Amino acid sequence: MLINMKDLLKVAYENKFAVGSFNVANSEFVKVVITAAEEQNSPAIMQIHPNEIDLVTDGFIAYVREAASKSKVPFVIHLDHGATIKDITRSIRNGYTSVMMDASHLPFEENIAATKEAVELAHLVDVSVEGELGTIGSNEGSSEGGADEILYTNPEEAAIFVEQTGIDTLAVAVGTSHGIYPQSKDHSIKIDRLKQIHEKVKIPLVLHGGSDNPDEEIREAVKHGIAKINLSTDMKRAFYNQLRATLDANPNAYEPDQLMPEATKAATELVKKKMDLFGSTGKASLYKLGEI
Ligand code: 13P
Repeated sequence: MLINMKDLLKVAYENKFAVGSFNVANSEFVKVVITAAEEQNSPAIMQIHPNEIDLVTDGFIAYVREAASKSKVPFVIHLDHGATIKDITRSIRNGYTSVMMDASHLPFEENIAATKEAVELAHLVDVSVEGELGTIGSNEGSSEGGADEILYTNPEEAAIFVEQTGIDTLAVAVGTSHGIYPQSKDHSIKIDRLKQIHEKVKIPLVLHGGSDNPDEEIREAVKHGIAKINLSTDMKRAFYNQLRATLDANPNAYEPDQLMPEATKAATELVKKKMDLFGSTGKASLYKLGEI
């Protein structure tokens, strides 16, 4: 079943678990996320970044919608890091049920204005909106964006931002970065900062850069308002490390049915473990068809 982010995260927020939001940019990753969600009886989000949609083109979303709609567990199709109104309208036209307007690099008032414009548009057709305040970090190798130096979310400003924009979910900068962390970088999640934001902001919070963080910190973050966790690199690393090994072991194999199953299985196992960690395993039963 395909629903919007507001309805998906309301249940997660109230029941103190987080839903994984996985970047899918080919049919293998769609299969990975749907298989993992169904085996775990878990809700899940499939998200596509503007760089990824440029690669796979608009028609890919019809395939993702068809696959998600047919599933018995709840899914959202989400635009990851939309940067312009064109990204937002393109996603609405393609049939996403949720979009992110990331204007976090702009001054506060301009971020509010850009995000509010996206909300006014998306809410007309019941599409949910995620905004971002503060700036998430970026590690080498990730093309998701982010700043070299993290700009932590200010709790007071976060409350004003949510009120003035009307967003459904807020991405917060509390220490994580996109991609794999270099040894030298402090990447601990600042739980005190998160608690302060959670006290002021009464909508579900989003953690970007969910890869390569200690399980304990993720568990703690979920206790303090994080209801959506973006995860890309860990899943891709599991898939491509296995694909490289399969290719090395079988230099004359060219058929997808010889190359893909092991990589797909490795990524599916990783996603299932993350669903356990985020607390979403078994929670699909909390969503009552017909009530949403
Ligand atoms: P990771 O690649 O660190 O998992 O981050 C993904 C993400 O936050 C996408 O928005």
